[in-house]
Amino acid sequence: MLTDTQISQFTNAGYLLLPDMVSDEERKALIERAYDIIEEDHLEQAGLFSTTDRSQIDNSYFLGSAETIRCFFEEKAFGDNGELLQPRSQSINKIGHALHDLDPVFRQFAQRRDFGTIAKDLGLSHPSLYQTMVIFKQPRIGGEVTWHQDATFFFTDPTSVITYWFALEDATLENGCLWLEPGGHHGPLRERYFCEQGELRMEPLSDLPWTRDSGNPIPVKAGSLLVFHGHLPHYSAPNQSNKSRIALTFHVVDAACHYAPENWLQRPNLGEFAM
Ligand code: FE2
Repeated sequence: MLTDTQISQFTNAGYLLLPDMVSDEERKALIERAYDIIEEDHLEQAGLFSTTDRSQIDNSYFLGSAETIRCFFEEKAFGDNGELLQPRSQSINKIGHALHDLDPVFRQFAQRRDFGTIAKDLGLSHPSLYQTMVIFKQPRIGGEVTWHQDATFFFTDPTSVITYWFALEDATLENGCLWLEPGGHHGPLRERYFCEQGELRMEPLSDLPWTRDSGNPIPVKAGSLLVFHGHLPHYSAPNQSNKSRIALTFHVVDAACHYAPENWLQRPNLGEFAM
């Protein structure tokens, strides 16, 4: 499916932009379903999610989301007395992490054969979908996602994770589009996220600083797909606009590579979701 030019763009720059990959009908169905899940979820049990302060994350709620579907609140969703400052549909940071296994609408979308073909064209012999997230980047309170590489969280030997980032709505500079560092995937993995005996910790692997100045914003139209390498540094700014920036992400690893038992996300009961 991918052309030689597209494959070399991925090899050289670490990412590839594929416009018009999600139809309006699919986007509408996925967004509607995501909002329905928010209403179904028992939000009093929902945890908080923050990349700027991971100490705030409730470990057991987070770890328990690996094989189910859970909602996470935005850090800035609450007032001083713990009350929501906006409707709950506009208070959720993300939904994760097994939508592709357990939700019929997301499952049907994830089973599109062309998604597996893309992964194979990019060198994964047995592409396996490990994680899905709907990331809302809510108006005004949608938080920053600090510079990171996704292989930090999906450590395989050798590195294999590829991220699929679907824009379900337009992503702009104002509402917090992705920033990528072209070619940055040629560098080392800087950090690794460990889960051992239920304890989560980030361990530095390299002194190489995040090269913020060489990052480029990548505004994309709704329906676009960005695929990027597990070592590619990426970031997104807080949403300062009045529009959400809903994205759907897949994290795809090669089942032929060794998947680290210390990764936080394990799927002993769900197994491989072959693409
Ligand atoms: Fe990421």
